[in-house]
Amino acid sequence: MSQGAGIDSILKENRVFAPPHEFAVASRVPSLERYQELYDLAERDPEAYWAGVALDLRWTKPWTQVLDWQPPSARWFDGAETNLSHNCLDRHLATRGNRAALIWEGEPGDARILTYQQLHRETCRFANVLLRLGVRQGDRVAIYLPMVPEAAIAMLACARIGAVHSVVFGGFSAEALRDRINDAGAKLVVTADGGYRRGKVVALKAAVDAAVERAPSVERVVVVRRTGDKVAMEPGRDSYWHELVEGVSDKHEAASLPAEHPLFILYTSGTTGKPKGIVHTTAGYMVGVYSTTQMVFDLKDNDTYWCTADVGWVTGHSYVVYGPLLNGATTVMYEGAPDFPEQDRLWKIIDKYDVTIFYTAPTAIRAFMRWGEQWPMRHDLASLRLLGTVGEPINPEAWMWYRQVIGGGRCPIVDTWWQTETGAIMCSPLPGATPTKPGSCTRPLPGIAMDVVTRDGTPVPPGQGGLLVVRRPWPSMLRTVWGDPERYARTYWSDVPGCYFTGDGARRDEDGYFWVMGRVDDVINVAGHRLGTMEVESALVAHPAVAEAAVVGRPDDLKGQAIVAFVTLKGGTGARLEPGEDARKALMAHVVTEIGAIARPDDIRFTDALPKTRSGKIMRRLLKEIAAGGETKGDTSTLEDISILARLRADDE
Ligand code: WTA
Repeated sequence: MSQGAGIDSILKENRVFAPPHEFAVASRVPSLERYQELYDLAERDPEAYWAGVALDLRWTKPWTQVLDWQPPSARWFDGAETNLSHNCLDRHLATRGNRAALIWEGEPGDARILTYQQLHRETCRFANVLLRLGVRQGDRVAIYLPMVPEAAIAMLACARIGAVHSVVFGGFSAEALRDRINDAGAKLVVTADGGYRRGKVVALKAAVDAAVERAPSVERVVVVRRTGDKVAMEPGRDSYWHELVEGVSDKHEAASLPAEHPLFILYTSGTTGKPKGIVHTTAGYMVGVYSTTQMVFDLKDNDTYWCTADVGWVTGHSYVVYGPLLNGATTVMYEGAPDFPEQDRLWKIIDKYDVTIFYTAPTAIRAFMRWGEQWPMRHDLASLRLLGTVGEPINPEAWMWYRQVIGGGRCPIVDTWWQTETGAIMCSPLPGATPTKPGSCTRPLPGIAMDVVTRDGTPVPPGQGGLLVVRRPWPSMLRTVWGDPERYARTYWSDVPGCYFTGDGARRDEDGYFWVMGRVDDVINVAGHRLGTMEVESALVAHPAVAEAAVVGRPDDLKGQAIVAFVTLKGGTGARLEPGEDARKALMAHVVTEIGAIARPDDIRFTDALPKTRSGKIMRRLLKEIAAGGETKGDTSTLEDISILARLRADDE
């Protein structure tokens, strides 16, 4: 399916699914009218609306002002003090101390269940360990772990003492980890001796050793023993988690932190080669993820909720760890691959724990479709009552398959649009209220002012494509880019006057439903993960044999987009690589080393030169068309060397 065909079929999409009656009557927001009331209420007085939500949570000091907005800088709940870890754990001890907070399943089949009381104790212990190791309020801690309970514990412990965590996805390479550690100036790294992925051990500690070699800020490394494999331990720097916590008190009073105290940094791709450290702060983020988890997933006391995201991504932060715990829910965490040992692993886990709410990515759903419905059919999925998706536009075919095969035709689907920057879900059906249309994230949540506009901020009429913006600050919005406030202002608040620009294109239909069409900038979405084409380009040109590189996305049935790199090799007598299969392999391996396997190009094409405008800008539009195998359309008169285009296309045939 080509990009064009995808958009066409969305345009033709006119199926509407009303929330099932039994679901609606039992849900928190039981009708579209009720949603509209809430929405209108929040529009009339957004600050009062958010203050009302915030009152559900515990504060050690009240706020003096709900919002202080000095564009583009927002302060929410100023004057207040609170603690996210306290709200996730201590707040529930009296009422649900013995309820399962975290159900963890390891890839080899081992499992751990931590009640709220146990998770609280482990978190307090590790908070005390961090303090002993000299970590103080505002210090940065890098977390580079597999999906093990210690990942959540480490995050909660940082939040508890006011240290700023920077979780780095375990699939990133040593180089990528080092860049992130250095950018944040992390003092301590939490890692593991390894993690299981498809039956193999991912050697995280070795990557940390390589990264820390040139990361002068790092004083200590804490190693979780997961696989039991022998790893190098540097005396004085490295210690095992289980040894550190031994005999340490499991009592710790959460620090009372100012509302705007930085909570975490999470790196995400932008349009330059350097990932940006998105900064979220304590109170606003807490209020945003608390209320969206409750509303969008219609959480009930007897739910067992499972979001399959890795904690290394924002979805793992907001909807594996913080959102469910803030609501006192039971959250499931799975360490490994969905097809290990067989392609029914996820369905087996749903069956085993009677999961009621399941939240995953369209790219995963397309893989499940490809594997076939015999896998889910082997298991009893009757416990499921609600399904969710996130990360990229979902094609209606995958949506229908998800509904029928996984949801048995009875579960509503919440297609949730949001970003690392937004911290929490912005646009999504409320499952008991909003009729759904396959492929649409439907309508913004109460308090969120989304719009589709032209470059000058004028709203576009229904049915017409435009830029997706948010017109007003919201509590869980990013506050800045770590160490680069100018980049924050420029990237998000300067493209469209007076608005936060998401980087996405979208249209709205006659019912006010949003249809997100994907990125309009040089960011591509590969298997639900954002990658800047510039990042991959920088990695390629860092190879001594590469003269120049341009990277574009090509539509891909499974991954949404695939990465295609156009590469010019250095020529002359000193040429280090000849175009061909060997060079292709070498460059792919090089990108994996520089960034990680998620950035491995699916295709590398060698060319003598890249098509450029007279001002020297690479004509990506043309490259995209070539990569997609289509005709090159439109004006090419600005091409510096038209023959390059011809050559590229000839190679294509
Ligand atoms: C895309 C992930 C369509 C979008 C939470 C956005 C979506 C980017 C959806 C953010 C959705 C996410 N429908 N597109 N439901 N959800 N996206 O920062 O392009 O990893 O800008 O956050 O993913 O990706 P990020």
